[in-house]
Amino acid sequence: MTRIGIIIGSTRPGRNGETVARWVHDIASKRVDAEYELVDLKDFNLPHLDEMTPPSMGQYTQPHTLRWAEKIASFDGYVFVTPEYNHSTSGALKNAIDFIYAEWNNKAAGFVSYGSVGGTRAVEHLRLVVAELQIADVRAQVALSLFTDFENFSVFKPGPHQVDAVNTMLDQLAAWSGALATLRTGTTMATAQSGT
Ligand SMILES: Cc1cc2nc3c(=O)[nH]c(=O)nc-3n(C[C@H](O)[C@H](O)[C@H](O)COP(=O)(O)O)c2cc1C
Repeated sequence: MTRIGIIIGSTRPGRNGETVARWVHDIASKRVDAEYELVDLKDFNLPHLDEMTPPSMGQYTQPHTLRWAEKIASFDGYVFVTPEYNHSTSGALKNAIDFIYAEWNNKAAGFVSYGSVGGTRAVEHLRLVVAELQIADVRAQVALSLFTDFENFSVFKPGPHQVDAVNTMLDQLAAWSGALATLRTGTTMATAQSGT
């Protein structure tokens, strides 16, 4: 079964991100195309990147890196739930993405963002970042406005159309996550056949 992680991309006390991610998870859990699991960055307590070698070399040494890598490796695709901080994503999410490499490769991603203009600038940055990790990003995204999908910028009251937006994004994400699993199997077989 295709497995998709819904990653809560903010860690600050009082964050809106957790409520938004739980709402996405509730919608996703009604679907039968994949298993959906919430992944809270707070639970991994990652420091600023503290590995000696670049993650692309795959020589992870720190227990927190290995734990994070194991969790991310267990998924075929991801929903990044991101705030917009200074026209980009959060430092916490960027750091968590940077920590590992191969575990992201040949997977798919969709985005749910929130901010004064729906967090769209954060997602545009994230699309550039995930491309470097060989993550295929789906077109449909969910952009939640702090003005119209929240009360007082903190009480989450999404417009009814946003449920359809989540499902459209998940339609694309589940399809690509499943398709790319075939590619990953092919890579493993090619590597095994070449004896490397
Ligand atoms: C450091 C910081 C920078 C922010 N910069 C922006 C911004 O550039 N654009 C925007 O729309 N909202 C910005 N905001 C507002 C956040 O989008 C809003 O507070 C959101 O709820 C933050 O997500 P969180 O509650 O999950 O941490 C910023 C908030 C913080 C804390």
